[in-house]
Amino acid sequence: MAYSRRDSSTGPVRVGIVSVSDRAYRGIYEDRGGPAVRAYLEEVLSTPWEGVARVIPDEVAVIRDTLVELADEAGCCLVITTGGTGPAPRDVTPEATAAVLDKELPGFGEAMRAVSRPHVPTAVLSRQTAGVRGSALIVNLPGSPKAVRECLDAVFAAVPDCVDLIGGPYLETDPSRVAAHRPH
Ligand code: MTE
Repeated sequence: MAYSRRDSSTGPVRVGIVSVSDRAYRGIYEDRGGPAVRAYLEEVLSTPWEGVARVIPDEVAVIRDTLVELADEAGCCLVITTGGTGPAPRDVTPEATAAVLDKELPGFGEAMRAVSRPHVPTAVLSRQTAGVRGSALIVNLPGSPKAVRECLDAVFAAVPDCVDLIGGPYLETDPSRVAAHRPH
């Protein structure tokens, strides 16, 4: 899809929502992670935003190209992936993400795993990471809708400040849901 490069001061901010799943891509299974990310953002973000959604297979090159497209061409200030973070042979989202990052932010993965562990012992199996590409923050989440919410709750207070620091738009949240922490 072709995009005109967007000035982030005009129009809604863009958020990439990338569902990584062979089965959802082939239509064998309904994508549930992507809709869970969208529902979460609808609850939490008060800044007008639009989602740019993709459902793609567990292929490193496809994931990499999709992240680059959303960050560099679509002008997304935040790109959230869901799925493909575990230990199975086809789980390659963290590798594909690391390959396109300018800077990794390991604190995101650490915080999400720490919060998830009391919910589910297998939280330690997720290799989810995050980082910065240009003025986009990219965050990996596991595929289950429950994990999407638990993980976003663990880190979302830090997202607006991170987006400020990398030159993205000013994101506002509903403070009754997530109070953005802006020390800068
Ligand atoms: N984190 C939370 N909060 N809740 C979960 O249910 N599932 C775990 C883990 N992290 C889970 C979670 C499981 S079972 C796996 S295998 C890994 O995430 C990787 O999931 P993914 O392959 O869908 O990315």
